[in-house]
Amino acid sequence: MIIEPRMRGFICLTAHPKGCEQNVINQINYVKSKGAINGPKKVLVIGASTGFGLASRITSAFGSDAATIGVFFEKPAAEGKPASPGFYNSAAFEKQAHAAGLYAKSINGDAFSNEIKDKTIDLIKADLGQVDLIIYSLASPVRTNPNTGITHKSVLKPIGQNFTNKTVDFHTGNVTTISIDPCNEEDIENTVAVMGGEDWAMWIEAMKKAGVLAPNAQTVAYSYIGPALTEPVYRKGTIGRAKDHLEATAFEITKSLADLNGKAFVSVNKALVTQASSAIPVIPLYISLLYKVMKAEGIHEGCIEQIQRLFAERLYTGAAAPIDEAGRIRIDDWEMRADVQAKVAELWEQATTESLPTLGDLAGYSDDFYNLFGFKVAGVNYTDDVNEMVEVPGLV
Ligand code: NAI
Repeated sequence: MIIEPRMRGFICLTAHPKGCEQNVINQINYVKSKGAINGPKKVLVIGASTGFGLASRITSAFGSDAATIGVFFEKPAAEGKPASPGFYNSAAFEKQAHAAGLYAKSINGDAFSNEIKDKTIDLIKADLGQVDLIIYSLASPVRTNPNTGITHKSVLKPIGQNFTNKTVDFHTGNVTTISIDPCNEEDIENTVAVMGGEDWAMWIEAMKKAGVLAPNAQTVAYSYIGPALTEPVYRKGTIGRAKDHLEATAFEITKSLADLNGKAFVSVNKALVTQASSAIPVIPLYISLLYKVMKAEGIHEGCIEQIQRLFAERLYTGAAAPIDEAGRIRIDDWEMRADVQAKVAELWEQATTESLPTLGDLAGYSDDFYNLFGFKVAGVNYTDDVNEMVEVPGLV
């Protein structure tokens, strides 16, 4: 079929298998171009199909020759209906990994459930014995807690007071003012239940109990801080409470892994266009200004550049990973540079519908968004007929 983008709000209903494949190949080539990392050998990535999780899987495999198991929640194709991009990405990743002689298998299902945890542990036992790195990179709006059966929905709201600021519709370029009402207590609890550290701890506990964690195993989850501009809706909002919880959970997990000499880290990453971040109000405007400033400075990075740097310059240098005063690894260092933030804050004041196309990198934002779904990728001919029925070869 000929597959075209069908946008609805901040999601795209279609995805292009060849474009997704090319994105994965580009990321693999980037990692290879940076040279070998003396990194992990057997890796589980939870949330492995898009964004930072996919970049973590690619960096492990093609930077460090690691065997990888990827867990994700994606929609396979049906006749005439393309799969979700993460499904095509995973198919492309496995194809390339297998061709390179690397072990790669995947599990598609709800990572929050006991069933998928058990299935993953059984696969590790059967094929790898133990893993030495577990990346936790889930981004989801809902979670059903397997112990209580309660389904929690996260919200993206400020706490305590109304938040009014500029935002942009990145499809039209319209800069408008939005006003978001504060959350209630229940919203905070629900968002922490979905995006906090409870499920991460449950994974590690189950894996430890099953004996599938190697001595010195490390586990890493991803967090975000960002600037004062976005604080009310991000770091000091409901999602920020969840990130506080995730960060506190790292210490609990490290304690629980003492006998294995294992460690849990949170890495604070840069703001980037992913399916998760495009849903957060205000963030797309911030990202389009940030991209402009960071590209002008020659310090712009995407997910793969961030994670390659995280592995090569933080986690696997041969020395202990450098951490900040709160115990977190920082790979958002270039985003948070004082000169970068001062420039973004100045541009923020000036941004209007008319000025944003020149002041900000709206085109870069929009292209990245299309790229997430395999569209507007260089080298892909979108008028070609493609087979939408792509399989993930090592799907268990
Ligand atoms: P993403 O939307 O690209 O990826 C989410 C992944 O989670 C996908 O592989 C998806 O299949 C998987 N997933 C979602 N629900 C699932 C479920 N129930 N079971 C199994 N898999 C499931 O998101 P992104 O942006 O890469 O986010 C990953 C982490 O990075 C999140 O913790 C996010 O907060 C964090 N982060 C994101 C930043 C950004 O700007 N995008 C910045 C800093 C941190």
